[in-house]
Amino acid sequence: MRLILLGAPGAGKGTQAAFICQKYGIPQISTGDMLRAAVKAGTPLGLAAKKVMDSGALVSDDIIIGLVKERLAQSDCTNGFLFDGFPRTIPQADAMKNAGVKLDYVLEIDVPFDAIIERMSGRRSHTSSGRTYHVKFNPPKVAGLDDVTGEPLIQRDDDKEETVKKRLEVYASQTRPLVDYYANWAKADPADAPKYRAISGMGTVEEITERVFAALSS
Ligand code: AP5
Ligand code: ZN
Repeated sequence: MRLILLGAPGAGKGTQAAFICQKYGIPQISTGDMLRAAVKAGTPLGLAAKKVMDSGALVSDDIIIGLVKERLAQSDCTNGFLFDGFPRTIPQADAMKNAGVKLDYVLEIDVPFDAIIERMSGRRSHTSSGRTYHVKFNPPKVAGLDDVTGEPLIQRDDDKEETVKKRLEVYASQTRPLVDYYANWAKADPADAPKYRAISGMGTVEEITERVFAALSS
């Protein structure tokens, strides 16, 4: 299974990615998680990316495309992979097309912007694994601690209200056009294009997982 999870910041891509990757035995390729790992490690890429991420803007296409190509060359990607938060611009999508990266599905998770603000403000993250919780909707077993490692959870620096607003604007202008890009490609060339599916991301995490699995077998 090779797929793209498309959706606004806070739509639940990371949350659903964990279930999909477990079911199909594929790695989750989250460019956001990769950038946060670089920030934590203090690499030159991380130092440059931190400023951009905290402003809510996008890191440059060249950097992201390079990171993803390197990641795809690793042996665990041979049986499939899930892209979470990538591609995020038309040039990123074109780069995959031009590199001949085959995809089975593009799955869009659709959540209205007002629900997103509430999700982001209550999100708590375990940085090293990328696991994500919500204080109200998806709480950890022990408040403030990761279920698996027991390590403390953090609030992401880019989940501040002003940055969230900027990220939503950036999504609308730069990433949302990918919905038409993939939907039109699927219509024009169904033999070569990934299947395009869209589901509502409103409801409980379990309800959405059911929709996800139904969409990926249709
Ligand atoms: P990235 O990490 O990709 O962030 P994002 O796309 O903004 O998405 P999020 O991680 O915020 O949301 P999500 O959809 O994964 O939601 P989640 O499952 O956590 O990118 C961060 C930054 O890195 C970017 O702004 C950019 O600067 C840079 N970057 C990354 N990729 C890039 C690229 N390709 N090109 C350029 N720059 C790039 O859920 C959110 C919350 O809701 C959680 O608390 C969760 O528990 C809760 N929740 C989930 N499902 C439900 C539900 N059904 N009901 C109620 N609550 C729910
Ligand atoms: Zn995420």
